[in-house]
Amino acid sequence: MELINIIEENVANTGIIYVVFATPLNKAENKYKKITIKPISSEDKIVYQLEKFTDKQAFHENIASDAITERIMDLANLYKNANIFTVDADYQLLVSKKGNMRIVKLAPTKAMSVGSHNKAKNYIIPENTPCDFLIELGVMNKDGKVLAKKYDKFKQINRFLEIVDDAVGKIDLKNDYKIIDFGCGKAYLTFALYHYFYKIKKLNVQIVGLDLKTEVIEFCNDVAKKLNYSQLRFENGDIKDYNTNLDIDMVVTLHACDNATDAALVKAVKWNTNIILSVPCCQHEFFNKIENDNLEPMLKHGLIKERLSSLVTDSLRSLFLETKGYKVQLVEFVDMEHTPKNILIRAVKSNIREESIKEYKDFKKFWKLDDIFIEKYFNKCE
Ligand SMILES: C[S@@+](CC[C@H](N)C(=O)[O-])C[C@H]1O[C@@H](n2cnc3c(N)ncnc32)[C@H](O)[C@@H]1O
Repeated sequence: MELINIIEENVANTGIIYVVFATPLNKAENKYKKITIKPISSEDKIVYQLEKFTDKQAFHENIASDAITERIMDLANLYKNANIFTVDADYQLLVSKKGNMRIVKLAPTKAMSVGSHNKAKNYIIPENTPCDFLIELGVMNKDGKVLAKKYDKFKQINRFLEIVDDAVGKIDLKNDYKIIDFGCGKAYLTFALYHYFYKIKKLNVQIVGLDLKTEVIEFCNDVAKKLNYSQLRFENGDIKDYNTNLDIDMVVTLHACDNATDAALVKAVKWNTNIILSVPCCQHEFFNKIENDNLEPMLKHGLIKERLSSLVTDSLRSLFLETKGYKVQLVEFVDMEHTPKNILIRAVKSNIREESIKEYKDFKKFWKLDDIFIEKYFNKCE
């Protein structure tokens, strides 16, 4: 895996999302301690914006796409660390003191910036091609044109399918794959899952969407019937009380409120579900529980405490899943400019990472967290 190939291929496919160079190899000669690069659209073309940071200032420079590869290659020789985030993978560049470069390839974690450029040609559900459920849910018109006010939803659906594709794309899936979408709401993403597995993957998938709202469930069942989506059904109920005889392969829970996400995660663990995809919504529980004397300068501000408690919740949930034998990754769901609720937990059944058990305990102790819902609910469900 040569750096030049990675850059050339991603520039050609407009797959570069963000690049960061940090720690200059020669601090005396290089006044920029950090340089970031992102694609932006300018007069209908993609250009790459460099932001170059000195100790006190940031300078901007735009580079045409036919010159960016050379520039990135030059910068790679000047910095000790670099991270290249692309649509298909994240790359970590590590340069040793002797100047040897090592490239580590990781799963992709960043979403393409919505404003930066148009990736329509690569969407799993393309634009300008009529798609029955998107028409029925009012995202597209009958000619396949995406309605302007639904464009963000269209991108979110495609981003979600990219994440699903990344999680299952290389697995040999069984024909009767079974999925539950907890807190499905109006079910844009549940219908998208059906479209992906049934129509694209050609699997005899079975999908259940669950929600508290009766009228939403009626609406979704009507749409599924109208579209003849015979293996997709919606049920009315609370995640906490839900049980099934189905052998569930994937649990999805996107933006289910507060502890409903914990309940969904616990159900997934108890069912030994292979894949869990979860974007938390409001995380109220820890707001009133986290304490740490050393972090009081942060915690005394309600705004900061709220954000911090959300991050602590996501981190603790991830560790919880690791202690139950999942390999966990946090990825950006949609661009931060659209919603701060954009961290998606992607957990895949694996082996228990032994250190996670101690890390989980230490992390709880650090935040003085005791008596927390996810544990109580887990024990109750046993
Ligand atoms: C913000 S919506 C998200 C809808 C959809 N998952 C999405 O991301 O587009 C959250 C949904 O979760 C449902 N919900 C919240 N708590 C729930 C619970 N305990 N059991 C079932 N559904 C729940 C709500 O009724 C609501 O429709």
